[in-house]
Amino acid sequence: MRIDVVSLFPEFVAQCAGFGVVGRAIERGLLSIHGTNPRDHAEGNYRRVDDRPFGGGPGMVMLIDPLRRAIETARSAGEGPAHVVYMSPQGRRLDQETVRRLAAEPRLILLCGRYEGVDERLIQAEVDEEISIGDYVLSGGELAAAVVIDAIARLQDGALNDAESAVQDSFEDGLLDCPHYTRPVDHPLGAVPEVLLSGDHAKIARWRRMQSLGRTAERRPDLLEARVLSKADAKLLAQYREGAAARESGAATSDTATAGPEIG
Ligand code: ADE
Repeated sequence: MRIDVVSLFPEFVAQCAGFGVVGRAIERGLLSIHGTNPRDHAEGNYRRVDDRPFGGGPGMVMLIDPLRRAIETARSAGEGPAHVVYMSPQGRRLDQETVRRLAAEPRLILLCGRYEGVDERLIQAEVDEEISIGDYVLSGGELAAAVVIDAIARLQDGALNDAESAVQDSFEDGLLDCPHYTRPVDHPLGAVPEVLLSGDHAKIARWRRMQSLGRTAERRPDLLEARVLSKADAKLLAQYREGAAARESGAATSDTATAGPEIG
């Protein structure tokens, strides 16, 4: 997969992409990232890339033409059509389903704005989709682009080692991930839940599913509202809630306990 980043700070995104799973995906030839700077496509001694907004108001707006030339340069630098994404707080909020869809594109161009934003006519003419990484405003699209690149890179075939399988990730099946533990079994901060030491794989899988359902219900009820639980899941969630209620009254069992020690 080829990703072109159109940005006034292309090195910023390249730096973010140099580490961990993304760096390894690049090394393995699964992904390539290229920067194009609209300033290199601006005219005049000042290589101006922005101007004041019509209608007044604070801030500056990015000019159409340097961006258009930069996007055109990026388009023709690779083979085949590219899907153009504008990173913007006005976009649809990124989720794992969108990440999966973008990860399947052979080519992406991620357009990063600065200042108050980009001339709307450029967006209408060149952009296929606008994506936001959350309901807050960053000072530019570069961090958002780095987030998209990271999430996409780990889904490329061969990017993760076996032990890092993406299948168990949070959100892969629309639920939050279960808690994880490693050595030592006993620690001043608490003991590892007994079920995980039992060697009973079916029981462990059930416990993990219960934790995923319970955490999702507690922390992100919106994710559960959008789905109908299977009978088995509904039973596990009820069991989790019983465990939580029992803990509240100080009588948890090892099988229904949520992660970690009881605090406070
Ligand atoms: N640019 C500025 N804020 C952003 C956000 N929340 N998501 C994507 N791009 C942005």
